[in-house]
Amino acid sequence: MPSAGEATKSVAPATAGQGIVLPPNATRLAQTAQLNALLTIIRSSATSRSDFIFYADRIIRMVVEEGLNYLPTLEKTVQTSTGGAYDGLKFEGRICGVSILRAGEAMESGLRECCRSVRIGKILIQRDEETAKPKLFYAKLPQDVAKRWVLLLDPMLATGGSVLQAIEVLISHGVEASRILFLNLVASPEGLANVYARYPEVRVISAWVDEGLDERNYIVPGLGDFGDRYFC
Ligand code: PRP
Ligand code: URA
Repeated sequence: MPSAGEATKSVAPATAGQGIVLPPNATRLAQTAQLNALLTIIRSSATSRSDFIFYADRIIRMVVEEGLNYLPTLEKTVQTSTGGAYDGLKFEGRICGVSILRAGEAMESGLRECCRSVRIGKILIQRDEETAKPKLFYAKLPQDVAKRWVLLLDPMLATGGSVLQAIEVLISHGVEASRILFLNLVASPEGLANVYARYPEVRVISAWVDEGLDERNYIVPGLGDFGDRYFC
């Protein structure tokens, strides 16, 4: 028997955040009961590190799969084993991943699971603990990054300061904003609005959009510090 307060069946999908209007460049995953349940696990402060990693990895995989839907395709016809022709599609153009360290590194294996031997660049940006302002320390990108579609990886979009700085680094290396797909797990409405205001061409794909930010510029209800929970 379930105890008091426990759900008995999963008929109700997500309800939280349904009223939030997303900017035109932003998309979130289908707000299913499964996704809500996975996020509930990683949001809980009682979740162990190993469970946090396991369930965060599952959501990362879902976000990566959704991100791949935004890449351009070309028509392609193949012959099947029945001898018939199948008029299908193939991806057009090359891609790379770029992770915003440290937390973005957690998304690299999910990307590699979907895109074998994908090239990955790294940008180290850290938020100042007091001011929440981002500081750029290091960037190492594939040498032909300007010719690729970039899947920019960071699980958390709070104020948007870090990702805006990362986008600037990519643009300074010749990447077109319209070829950047920013994949994240939890976004705030403020962060989405800030990215849209500066770079409306950048497509943003989130698993979930939360209510807002607290006085420390952490996402609420959020899940805390993603990097600490995944890596420490
Ligand atoms: C976190 C997170 C984002 C950033 C989001 O990283 O991974 O990069 O904060 O906040 P913002 O949208 O307000 O910039 P943090 O700088 O804490 O470093 P970490 O990756 O080492 O955890
Ligand atoms: N970074 C995180 O890891 N979590 C937040 O809520 C904000 C920034």
